[in-house]
Amino acid sequence: MAQEDVFKKIVAHCKEYGFVFPSSDIYDGLAAVYDYGQNGVELKNNIKQYWWQSMVLLHDNIVGIDSAIFMHPTIWKASGHVDAFNDPLIDNRDSKKRYRADVLIEDEIAKYDEKIDKEVAKAAKRFKENFDEAKYRATSPRVIELQEKRDALHARYSAAMNAMDLNELRQIILDEEIVCPISGTRNWTEVRQFNLMFSTEMGSTADGAMKVYLRPETAQGIFVNYLNVQKTGRMKVPFGIAQIGKAFRNEIVARQFIFRMREFEQMEMQFFVRPGTEMEWFSKWKETRMKWHQVLGFGADHYRFHDHEKLAHYANAATDVEFLMPFGFKEVEGIHSRTNFDLSQHEKYSGKSIKYFDPETNESYTPYVIETSIGVDRMFLSVMCAAYTEEQLENGETRVVLKLPAALAPVKLAVLPLVKKDGLPEKAREIVNDLKFHFNTIYDEKDSIGKRYRRQDAVGTPYCVTVDHDTLNDNCVTLRNRDTMQQERVAISDLNGIIADRVSITSLLKKLQ
Ligand code: GAP
Repeated sequence: MAQEDVFKKIVAHCKEYGFVFPSSDIYDGLAAVYDYGQNGVELKNNIKQYWWQSMVLLHDNIVGIDSAIFMHPTIWKASGHVDAFNDPLIDNRDSKKRYRADVLIEDEIAKYDEKIDKEVAKAAKRFKENFDEAKYRATSPRVIELQEKRDALHARYSAAMNAMDLNELRQIILDEEIVCPISGTRNWTEVRQFNLMFSTEMGSTADGAMKVYLRPETAQGIFVNYLNVQKTGRMKVPFGIAQIGKAFRNEIVARQFIFRMREFEQMEMQFFVRPGTEMEWFSKWKETRMKWHQVLGFGADHYRFHDHEKLAHYANAATDVEFLMPFGFKEVEGIHSRTNFDLSQHEKYSGKSIKYFDPETNESYTPYVIETSIGVDRMFLSVMCAAYTEEQLENGETRVVLKLPAALAPVKLAVLPLVKKDGLPEKAREIVNDLKFHFNTIYDEKDSIGKRYRRQDAVGTPYCVTVDHDTLNDNCVTLRNRDTMQQERVAISDLNGIIADRVSITSLLKKLQ
């Protein structure tokens, strides 16, 4: 099945099974804004818990905060967001549609890549086992020609982006004869800068309303609380501050479902270190964060680092953790060495000293910062994409199963009475009432047992127990494993012991140690 179709199925599955709904659905939705349903919110909360506990519980030098979404507007001047948090946009005069100029060009580069891949795939089919891909790529005149065009375009585009040369970006669009996907014309406007921050007004106009922004990242809430936390927590460098919260960006091109949203959630940690030690900490955090991802068990081949060629003016190193989505390797998390830029800027704009006196070296300095920043929604999407599986069964049926790590699954155990009579529902409810204090346990009696298993497979429930007539005599139930579909007879009194450990976040955290 084409990867595009797989992705469509995942999006449809998210809606059908109560994971993600378009926001304002009965009003036909609101672009790039989504709501999480009854299963989605559980999965999302488990992801957040896994991150929070790995940061705050496992590190005695990391503490958490929860700062407000509204902040003093000068913060965004100091951070550079007012002046430089822009995307280059271009309009098509015929369709009246607005696009990101950089995205139009990147899509064009991707088209060259696709053409090259098609040539290679065709040759592989033709030459079968004798095919030497590296040799073919190096010698095929068609592939060489496409590769040269692609590289030249990439070089020109990178130079234009580095210089933020808006005229050159437009010229590339014209030279490459890129057309508007809606109107099919090349009737483009100039390229303009578009600030991504949403703004609103605080206070009544009579009192003199103040323009405030919805935060585009949670990080600044940590920077401006650095002194509060360092002093009240008597924190010693190196130490970190973690935060999970909403962020807002007026993305021009919002696509790929919850990959790029206008309202989303971030899990960010700023780690304050002594100047000169930042590169050492940068590699430590790269390693720590990659392990956090890989412990989920989707396979190391699903992840890679992508080091930034172009660094923001305040950064001295940056990398992305990319995940293999059905639409290619995409950024899920950023790890950035941000120097002392943010704290120095807040020192300058607020007029307050943010220096740290280091008792070990007897020096005062503005700490350097390593940031780890991951989007909850992108993480959610990566987990859904990796977990979504269609299995062909021996009887010819297809089973859709979400192979979620048990610790992240919305529901851990479904208790199913075989029939809706003979005291089986009562026995099943007894089990639920006992186990619900330990993990998310649900009761389901509707439809045949086979249909109920399928329903639980589709939402990723790792275990089901069936209460049958024998249960009333022997106090045992049939425990079914989601992935293997194997069933075993176990005593009701053993259920908590068997399941609790395997479905707890602690089971993941222990693997991180
Ligand atoms: N404080 C640094 C920062 O915000 P970023 O690379 O702009 O860095 C960090 O964002 C992470 O936030 C990204 O790796 C991504 O997971 C998530 N993210 C950013 N923009 C997003 C959007 N429009 N929709 C969903 N997630 C987004």
